[in-house]
Amino acid sequence: MAKASVSPRNYPMTVNANGTKVTLRLMTRADAEKSVQFARALPEEDLMFLTIDITDANDMAQYVQAVESGHALTVLAEVDGRFVGYGSLNVSRPHWTRHLGEMRLLIHPDFRGKGLGRVLANEVFQAAQEKGLRKLIARMAVSQRGAQSVFEKLGFTAEAMLNDFVMDRHGLTHDLIVMTYDVTGLTE
Ligand SMILES: CC(C)(COP(=O)(O)OP(=O)(O)OC[C@H]1O[C@@H](n2cnc3c(N)ncnc32)[C@H](O)[C@@H]1OP(=O)(O)O)[C@@H](O)C(=O)NCCC(=O)NCCS
Repeated sequence: MAKASVSPRNYPMTVNANGTKVTLRLMTRADAEKSVQFARALPEEDLMFLTIDITDANDMAQYVQAVESGHALTVLAEVDGRFVGYGSLNVSRPHWTRHLGEMRLLIHPDFRGKGLGRVLANEVFQAAQEKGLRKLIARMAVSQRGAQSVFEKLGFTAEAMLNDFVMDRHGLTHDLIVMTYDVTGLTE
């Protein structure tokens, strides 16, 4: 697959999110424990729908392996050394969907609405281009209306709805919406 001609990002980098100085850098194995602590401190509603259980140290360890093998990456956002959010990219492993990547965003409630989600989304877009991916997917429960609006504003469109496809932390199933974004032709 042809690689898009984009220059690699130079992390760490500092961005200004609505007046707050935020450092962006790539997550490594050394961040695993702090990432779990960050997740455990999030409100219950933010943890209802997770593709991997980021509050679980074993799941996080598996995720770190995916990062180290190049199948995933996470851009961490920090303010004064405190994790305030992340944007992640998971490259699809099956051969026939190897042009796809899944984007996930999570911003601590205290730091929402400052443009940080958009900043992290842009980092994930860049990473997807660097990896030569063609299409990004974002999956969320149909009930996550706010998140859908955010992803629409980021340029994603709803492409499919799948009945009872996700199970929340309480074991209840919900309909899933698949939103996609065409990476090809993106500019910085
Ligand atoms: C979704 C989420 C990442 C957005 O992060 P954020 O930093 O608040 O987003 P931003 O401030 O960058 O906003 C991005 C755009 O969405 C809009 N927006 C933000 N929150 C919104 C909401 N609740 N409803 C509608 N629009 C919203 C903003 O106005 C902005 O649009 P604009 O640039 O055209 O003005 C954050 O709310 C979150 O972590 N939610 C919980 C986890 C989740 O649901 N993740 C999505 C599934 S992967």
